Parts: sequence; C-alpha cells; structure tokens
Amino acid sequence: MVRVVRATQVEIETAVQALRDGELVAFPTETVYGLGANAQNPAAVRRIFEVKGRPPSHPLIVHLDSPRYLHRWVRDVPDSAARLAEVFWPGPLTMVMPRAPNVHDVITGGQDTIAIRVPAHPMAQQLLTAFGGGIAAPSANRYGRLSPTRAEHVREEFADTVRVILDGGECQIGLESTIVAFEDEGVRLLRPGSVTAAQIKGAVGELLLGAAATSPRVPGSPPTHYAPRTPLTVVPSGEIDAQAEAASAGGRRVAVLAQRLPLRSHKYVTWINAGRRPEMYGRDLYTNLRTLDKAGCQQILVQAVPEGERWDAIRDRLLRAASSVAESDDGTGTRAVLP
Ligand code: TXA
Ligand code: MG
Repeated sequence: MVRVVRATQVEIETAVQALRDGELVAFPTETVYGLGANAQNPAAVRRIFEVKGRPPSHPLIVHLDSPRYLHRWVRDVPDSAARLAEVFWPGPLTMVMPRAPNVHDVITGGQDTIAIRVPAHPMAQQLLTAFGGGIAAPSANRYGRLSPTRAEHVREEFADTVRVILDGGECQIGLESTIVAFEDEGVRLLRPGSVTAAQIKGAVGELLLGAAATSPRVPGSPPTHYAPRTPLTVVPSGEIDAQAEAASAGGRRVAVLAQRLPLRSHKYVTWINAGRRPEMYGRDLYTNLRTLDKAGCQQILVQAVPEGERWDAIRDRLLRAASSVAESDDGTGTRAVLP
C-alpha cells in the first residue's frame, strides 16, 4: 500500500497558483479524492460541474482548514454544530448549515444552506492552509460513478482536463464523509459515513434518521450513484456461491465481491474476498468495484454485508451502486437510512 502523506512545497505552490488562476485541483482527503476550485470564484466552480457532468442543482461541499473562517460561509452556527465540530473536525464529517449572504448560488444550487467540511488528511490541510480560503469540492469522479480513492483513479477520468492532481496515496477511509443537517427538531443524518450515528448521538444527544419533507436536498442520493458500469446486484449473504454458480451457467463471466473465499472454485467467476472488517472493507470498496468492473464480466454480484451500524455506510453505497437488489428474507436486501 502506498502512503504519501505530504506534498512538497513546489507541489503545493503549483496547486495554490492553479486555484488562484481559476483552475481545478484534485486533492486527497481521508475519505475520497476531491475535485477542487476556489469557492469564491463562480466561474471556476462552474467548471467543476462541466468537467464532472454534474447537474447544477447538486450543491458542493466547501472545505476549510479549520473552523476559524466558518462565519464567512455560515450565517448562524447551530450550537450542536459547534459541538460536533469540536469532536469530529478535522475529520470525515460534513455539516449542512444556514449559508452566509455572500455565498455564491453556484455552490449551493440556490439552497439557503451550505455544506462545510474540515478534512484531516495532511495534504488537504497543507493545500487549504496555503490557499487560505475555501475550496469547493465534490468527489473527483464523473457524475454517478465510483468515487476515487487513489490518484490514479482521478487520472483515469480527468488526466486531460485537470492539470494538477496531488497524489496523497490511498485514502484511509475510502467512503465519502458522513453528512448531517440541522433542523428545528434536531440534527439529521443525511448520508451515513465513517462517523457513525451512535458517535453523533453521543455528542449531541439524539439524531434524526431518514429525510424529512423539509430536509435539504441531498442530490447525491438518487437511487443509482457511486456505480460501476457493469450491472451490480446485492445478493443475500448465504446465497452468494449458489447465485454465482447460477449466473455463470452457460459460460457467462461473473464478478463477485464477498466477505470470504468461495466454498469451491467456480469456473467463470472472478472473486474478491474483501474480508469481515468494516474499516478495511470500506477502505477498499471502490478500488475493488473498479477492479471487478474491469474484469470483463457481464454482472457483479455482491454478498450482502452484515446488519449493524459499522456497516451502514457500506450498505448505503452498495445499495446505490446496485442496479437491482435481490429479494431476501433476512433483512439484508432492504434499503437503509436514506430513501
Ligand atoms: O467525503 C466527502 O464528502 C467528499 C470529499 C471530497 O470531501 N466529497 C463528496 O462530495 O463526497 P460530493 O459532492 O460527491 O457529495 C456531497 C454531497 C452531495 O450529495 C450533495 O448533494 C450534498 O453533499 N450537499 C452539498 N451541499 C448540500 C446542502 N446545502 N444541502 C444538502 N446536501 C448538500
Ligand atoms: Mg460524489
């Protein structure tokens, strides 16, 4: 595993200059790689949408090096947000708060809220501190596709369009940040991530789950997102071998993402054992799906992951990556947390 944690001074200066010139810079965070622009330059932010093929109604997260300039972006910081910032920033938590008046509509999709995150990755910190302002950044992938967790993933999609790609090695978490919003009724979980619901509850007392009618839109959550090109199906855990066997009948090639080795070898099956530890499974998920997507198979079958909150973010991403979810009676095929 490659771990490059710090960029050179020259790399950071080049990236900062690119941001100042209105260009895009891809950079590592501990969750996934971001595709960044100067958040105060609307033309540069618009470029992000163009390059990604992302609809303009999907708002972006603004990244800061610390909460010290939060008031430039946020009108009122809710008390519970201040508390969560103390506990989880810098880190994999994004907070949706009331936007300050001068924040550009291109970032927020015209909503009256703004999403803010203070990432912990040392290279993201170096870049943000040297730049000295907010960097608007979605994940550095084309709209609807798998998020990048290595610089080479970004290069595969954007080598021609993004001149500066900071290489910080493999992202340690590998799944996008947890997102929360603040409503009159309390704090609401909008996207599960490695900061778990229980951890947030521990900090603020309670947590609302599922979108309310009044919740801000999280357009990153249409049903198919974070998806490989090969059709992906989540199958009940105990049926993975039988389904792989059935799907490969007649010589069809099938790719499998499981949590153990196959019970016996299947002739036309490419099998990845991603293990039973949610941290490692999550860190490797997008890389594994990319590998399986390139394996020349007609179908990807994913063994449903266990119940339990440590698997929530993984279960959420798998269901979004899925083109179909096989019915099961053990609860593993149900859609969780987000609609
Ligand atoms: O880990 C992450 O969060 C990565 C790294 C680069 O920070 N970023 C990321 O960005 O995943 P993106 O754009 O791929 O996903 C951000 C999500 C989207 O679903 C977007 O709709 C939602 O955050 N979002 C942004 N601003 C929002 C707002 N004001 N209200 C509700 N949702 C918002
Ligand atoms: Mg994304």
